[in-house]
Amino acid sequence: MWAGRFAKALDAKADDFNSSIRFDCKMYAQDIRGSIAHAEMLAAQGIISQEDCTAIVDGLCSILEDLDSGALEFDMRCEDIHMFVEAELTARIGDAGKRLHTARSRNDQVAVDVRMYLRDEAEEIIALLKTLVADITDKAEENKAVIVPGYTHLQRAQPITFGHHLMAYAMMFLRDISRLRDASARMNFSPLGSCALAGTTYPTDRRMEAAKLGFDGITLNSIDGVSDRDFCIEFLSAFSTIMMHLSRFSEEIILWSSWEFRYVELDDSYTTGSSIMPQKKNSDMAELVRGKTGRVYGDLLTLLTMMKGLPLAYNKDMQEDKEALFDGIETVKMCLDIFAPMIRTMRVRSENMYRAAQAGFINATDLADYLTKRGMPFRSAYKIVGTIVAECIERGCVLDDLPLDAYRAHSEIFADDLYSEISLETCVEKRISEGGTSVASVEAQIAAVRKELEV
Ligand code: ARG
Repeated sequence: MWAGRFAKALDAKADDFNSSIRFDCKMYAQDIRGSIAHAEMLAAQGIISQEDCTAIVDGLCSILEDLDSGALEFDMRCEDIHMFVEAELTARIGDAGKRLHTARSRNDQVAVDVRMYLRDEAEEIIALLKTLVADITDKAEENKAVIVPGYTHLQRAQPITFGHHLMAYAMMFLRDISRLRDASARMNFSPLGSCALAGTTYPTDRRMEAAKLGFDGITLNSIDGVSDRDFCIEFLSAFSTIMMHLSRFSEEIILWSSWEFRYVELDDSYTTGSSIMPQKKNSDMAELVRGKTGRVYGDLLTLLTMMKGLPLAYNKDMQEDKEALFDGIETVKMCLDIFAPMIRTMRVRSENMYRAAQAGFINATDLADYLTKRGMPFRSAYKIVGTIVAECIERGCVLDDLPLDAYRAHSEIFADDLYSEISLETCVEKRISEGGTSVASVEAQIAAVRKELEV
């Protein structure tokens, strides 16, 4: 390509080292679309002839078709996808093909291609997230009245509904959708026409080609246009957050599936056995999702580190953006795709959840509230209930089984109605504050999330 300046070809190993076509070939459709828009703009501005433009556009369309159908294979001897498309075009249409690269550079081409690629992938990931949120919400609805211990510090804390717990995850993934939408909106400006870095002396119309490619506008500084990879970092950061959410959920599912908890049972189609222990049923999918989280964090760190020392404008280091980005995209998609059906088919063992909720004094807060609502200051009530819990532990019973006279030895306020006031059902049903755990509150959360999903 740069034969004029050089007397010798690149060393074979250096050539291989330098080349990116084995991974940037993924962006062939975006690269060709970008080239079509560029050729049309050049013709509209009188920079190339209409005849050349028609030959270029027809040639590019036929290359796209042949790549789509598999009739044409990538030539791995080309340095990158941009060189390949141009070389193939010139082979097909001759001199007109050589005019395509007027008033542009590979630096703006690659920046445009990655943005368009990411834009499409973000839509797919949003669709996968929506499916997951819908599945979680359905599960939550089925389990809106199932009582389970809620935990803090992984210690039983207060009774909650399982639907409430699940809806917390729905909220996280809903935020992930909004994060991707934000990042997409910020990214959707075209750097095409920045050329190598300084702009061009040709009378180009950058806004015209940006509009043809579905961008909301153009990047306003050509140096920034070719040297910015913030959008890759933003997306990998959003992907890392998605993975972190999936990983927390995985961790809980793994715990809940253990014999110690037995809160849920994953469907056979999403678990594996052991080659030696016949009784085992392992949550491999959840474990792998948890494991792959580190890999996406690594992709983010790769880009942050790659960019941190780069002087303006383009540097070849930036070619390293794509493998990390593509890996992040593939990993997130794979994980979301497996997670949704795993949740959908997960069996909830409500009887075990209820049994766990009965032990562990998780209605102690409600017992303190019982005294407080009848006039005792909360701190005094808190202390008395602490003493009562200690007494129960000594006697080997729970709050619900301690006789009334034992209660009344601690405070005269206690009466017969305390038992119904601290029943698990009451504890849950009375938490009607917005966002709370009662069936009514969870129903409101479910309705709100379903409404969000319509957008
Ligand atoms: N393959 C390059 C990349 O991925 C394309 C841009 C190359 N530009 C250059 N001046 N060498 O970043």
